[in-house]
Amino acid sequence: MEKINIGLVGFGTVGQALYQVINNSRNVHAEIKKVCVRSLEKPRSIEVPQGLLTTNVDEIVDDADINLVVEVIDQADAAFEIVSRAMRAGKNVVSGNKAMIAKHLTELLDIQKETGRALLYDASSCGSIPVIRNLEEYYDNDLLLEVKGILNGSSNYILSRVFDHGEDYADALARAQKLGFAESNPTQDICGFDSLNKLVIITLHAIGVYVAPADVFVYGIEHLTAADIQYAREKGMKIKLVAQVVKFGEETFTMFVMPEFVAPGRYIYSVDDEYNGVVIRGECYDRQFMFGKGAGGFPTASSLLSDIMALRHDYRYEYKKTAFSPRPEYVTDIALKIYARYSTTDLHTLLPWQSIDEEYRSASHRYVVGEILISDLYKARTALAADDVFLCNFPRFFAERDN
Ligand code: HSE
Repeated sequence: MEKINIGLVGFGTVGQALYQVINNSRNVHAEIKKVCVRSLEKPRSIEVPQGLLTTNVDEIVDDADINLVVEVIDQADAAFEIVSRAMRAGKNVVSGNKAMIAKHLTELLDIQKETGRALLYDASSCGSIPVIRNLEEYYDNDLLLEVKGILNGSSNYILSRVFDHGEDYADALARAQKLGFAESNPTQDICGFDSLNKLVIITLHAIGVYVAPADVFVYGIEHLTAADIQYAREKGMKIKLVAQVVKFGEETFTMFVMPEFVAPGRYIYSVDDEYNGVVIRGECYDRQFMFGKGAGGFPTASSLLSDIMALRHDYRYEYKKTAFSPRPEYVTDIALKIYARYSTTDLHTLLPWQSIDEEYRSASHRYVVGEILISDLYKARTALAADDVFLCNFPRFFAERDN
C-alpha cells in the first residue's frame, strides 16, 4: 500500500492535535511532510522540526511526493481554492472545514468526478462523531424521516454553563474560546451559522439534496436572557441550540436551526458542555442516537485520522442518494410553535402569526407563544436578529411517536 505523505494546511488547535496524534502513533503509517501556516513567527505550544512549516501553499500543492492534503483552516473561499487545486494536482483531500464544504458542496462533487480524487470530511460535522459516513453508508435507504441534534460544541458549552451552572454568558463564551472549541469568529457558533453549515452537509448525505446555507432559517442564542431561562425552568425544560432536517412523506422536507425547549427524557436533554448529539429517526427503527465530543483539537483530530485511514482503503463518498428519483423538495411553509421574547421590536407587526396561544407583558420583558411559518421567520430574520428578540421552538414533529 502506498505510504501516505501528508501536506497539512492550517496549524491551529485541530492541526496541531492531528500532528501530535500522527507523530505519537506507531500504527499510523502516515507522515506529515509539510505544514502550511499563516505566520512562521506565531508562538506555538508544540515544537516542530526545522523546515516543516511554510507560508507558501504551493510547496504542498506542487510537491509530487505529497499524496494527501489535510485542510483545517477557517476561511471558506481560500480553503476551496486550495482544496480544488490539490485535487486537480492528483491528491486526495481530507477537510474539517464545514463553512467551505457547505458553501461549495456542489462544485466539490463536480471536482471529485472530474479528477477521480476523493474528498472526505467527517471531521466537518460533530467533531468525533462519525455522522457523515454513517448517513452515507448505513442509512442508504428511504426509511430516514428526520435527523436532528446539537451540532455545535461551543454554543452547547455556553448553554450548559449558563443554564445548569448559573455562570455568566460572556465568561462561558470566553472559556469556550480558550478551550479551543469556538471558531475564530465565535458569532459563527452562537448565531447558529456553524450548526447550519453542518446541517447542510448532513442533509446532503441524509436525503441527497443540497440546500444553500443562505436559504435556510437560522437563529442563535445571542439574545438569551435570564427571563428565557426562567421560562424554560418553570416548564421543566432546558434550552438547546438544535439543527434539524425533517421529511414529510416522500415529497417534501424542511430544515432549520434555532433554540429549542428540550424536555427530560429526550436524548439531547443530557448532551452538555462541548458534546454533540444526533438523533436519527426512521421507519422501522424509530429513533437512534449518536453522542460524542463535538469540538476541540483531539476529538476532531480523531475524525481526521479516521478519514486519512479510510483513504488508505480507497474509501470515497458515492453520494448515492443524490441520484434517487424523485428526491424530496425543500419547503418552508411549515408552521412551528415558538416562544418569542422581545423588548422593543413589535413582534405583532413584524411577524404574521398564524395563531397566538399565550402572551405576557411586564415592565422588564414581553413574550408571545404562537404558531408561525418558517418562511415568515425567514423573511423577518434580519430584523429579528438585529434586535433583542430570543426565539425558541417547541418540538412537535413526530411527537405522537415519542411516548
Ligand atoms: N466551533 C465548532 C464547535 C468546532 O464549537 O462545534 C467544531 O466544529
